[in-house]
Amino acid sequence: AGGGAPGAGGNGGGSDLITVGFAQTGSESGWRAANTESMKKAFSEENGFKLTFNAADNKQEAQISAVRNFINQGVDAIVIAPITVDGWDDVLKEAKDAGIPVILEDRTVSASDDLYASWVGLDFEQEGRTAGEWVKENFDGKGANLVVLEGTTGSSAALDRATGFDEAIKGTDVKVMDSQTGDFTRDGGKKVMEGYLQKYGKDINVLFAHNDDMGLGALDAIKAAGLTPGKDIQIVTIDAVKDGMTALANGEFNFIVECNPLLGEKAAALVKDVVDGKTVEKRTIVEDQSFTQEQAAEVLDSRPY
Ligand code: AHR
Repeated sequence: AGGGAPGAGGNGGGSDLITVGFAQTGSESGWRAANTESMKKAFSEENGFKLTFNAADNKQEAQISAVRNFINQGVDAIVIAPITVDGWDDVLKEAKDAGIPVILEDRTVSASDDLYASWVGLDFEQEGRTAGEWVKENFDGKGANLVVLEGTTGSSAALDRATGFDEAIKGTDVKVMDSQTGDFTRDGGKKVMEGYLQKYGKDINVLFAHNDDMGLGALDAIKAAGLTPGKDIQIVTIDAVKDGMTALANGEFNFIVECNPLLGEKAAALVKDVVDGKTVEKRTIVEDQSFTQEQAAEVLDSRPY
């Protein structure tokens, strides 16, 4: 394609479909599964796209080489959910030199914004702040010993959530005892929580997990230690996927800040406009809500993911 007419690329072979390479992070969480499904649905042939999908197993190098493959194939546009913020300058320049527009979805990058056409995603810093405000409201004045399960190191989701959360609890008597990465996975959350429980035992009374899956993994560790999640250790997480919302409605989680994974339609509309040569917004932020246990019980059946 090289910026030419849709379908003129090495992939399209004269059809009218817009050829798109999507470099997904991997399949680390329930959120990611919902995001992948939303993207595949929006970038379907009936919507005018020919999608090549790649999931990089959360390895930055694999994701960059997937993007290079898309450039070599001469797709009409590339969509990336960047695993980490740093390390994108070179490959984004290569795409630009090849005349292939890049649209980012979900996470952000530190590279200059003239290297990509547009970004659609969530306000991760606000998500962290909302989680921190809940902790502040419920524990400031009483004191709390809190542990954090961080998302993938160097990802904008983990960095910005930490910034927002820390800002919200600043000046309170909430003590952050420890903060380590569980890589956004259930397994990671379980292992790190086991370590925390061995080290700090019953002193821990609040857990902030950067996503539902790590919180769900931590539930196993907490129960195995003979403690009751939601009571002995109060838990706040981010995402609001079905399993997380079920744990919240059951009283095992205490509060969830939503992170909306349904970005496919907005990403597809951006790709279409960019390929058509239209001017698009540089940043599109999708709104999130948050849920208490009672609210989770009310909406659980109607949640789409
Ligand atoms: O970038 C969004 C984050 O990535 C989600 O909160 C987490 O579940 C996913 O893995």
